[in-house]
Amino acid sequence: MFKEQELTTHQLPFTARPRRLRQTEALRSMVRETELNARDLIYPLFVRHGQGRTPIASMPGIAQLSVDEAVREAEGAAKLGVPAVILFGIPAEKDPVGLENFAPDGIVQQAIRAIKREIPEMVVVTDVCLCEYTDHGHCGILNTGGGGLATRPHPHLPEGYVLNDPTLDVLGRVAVSHAEAGADIVAPSGMMDGMVAAIRESLDETGFENVPILSYAVKYASSFYGPFRDAAEGAPKFGDRKSHQMDPANVREALKEAALDVEEGADMLMVKPALAYLDVIRVVKDAYPELPLAAYNVSGEYAMVKAAAQNGWIDEAKVTLETLTAIKRAGAELLITYHALDAARWLK
Ligand code: PBG
Repeated sequence: MFKEQELTTHQLPFTARPRRLRQTEALRSMVRETELNARDLIYPLFVRHGQGRTPIASMPGIAQLSVDEAVREAEGAAKLGVPAVILFGIPAEKDPVGLENFAPDGIVQQAIRAIKREIPEMVVVTDVCLCEYTDHGHCGILNTGGGGLATRPHPHLPEGYVLNDPTLDVLGRVAVSHAEAGADIVAPSGMMDGMVAAIRESLDETGFENVPILSYAVKYASSFYGPFRDAAEGAPKFGDRKSHQMDPANVREALKEAALDVEEGADMLMVKPALAYLDVIRVVKDAYPELPLAAYNVSGEYAMVKAAAQNGWIDEAKVTLETLTAIKRAGAELLITYHALDAARWLK
């Protein structure tokens, strides 16, 4: 058998011993570089017409909520110190333009008013995009006619292509409609060129020059959005989003997207998804240290943690807090996450 006397003691050639600062939790917490707080978190809510809660199978713990349930959920967030929610709507009816998206009594508009009435201090962010509202599930007006457009107005562009500039008009109307209902921040997520400038112009023209824009500036065409598309019922009916969302292989291009959005007047930037894109978060933060940066810890990232935890394969609380801390360490100050309420509870 191995005897302890057989071990030789090595003399370190220098005196640096990083372990000195890791001996106790008190020491470790003194030298900790990143501290996750409930106030860093933004909690996504899916709002729908009708009553009650409709659980989303691929996102355990998350449900589509009626307006009153959304208020209750937001109250729970406020109690835990989570300062903000981001709203997604499931409309009663869908059409080629997504008319409910900018209807004064649309589902998101109702939810904004209800949450701001009951919890005025809650910061209400809204996602500004078309995909949950259009019958084709795409993030813009399609080159097929319909939507107030002549049949296939751009014969040189493919059938079904998402038209950029006509979509900007709709995005402006949606942002103004959210602002009118009382939204504190609008967050365009459609990756249309010029969307930030168009929305800024629409808001300024209508007296909402004080409403900030959080731009999904760097959003990838990611397969990690799968569960969200169940939750928001916004999956494209054909094709994909690769003609507007970014190629996962690119990072230099992220700087171009961020630069344009900053120039167009974005107040805050976002990188999405988060976990597979920590390098992108770092690059964007270093390029624009003066702008607050958000990262979206998306539905597929959430679903993976939940599934492994349900199998008893990982410790959900520890893995979640480690993940969120890592996203913050990479350079994001604001974390949009379905884990928000659990994380806030675990941080207490
Ligand atoms: C678009 C939007 C999407 C997500 C947020 N906003 C879906 C998409 O781009 O297909 C995904 C969020 C998630 O996966 O959690 N309105």
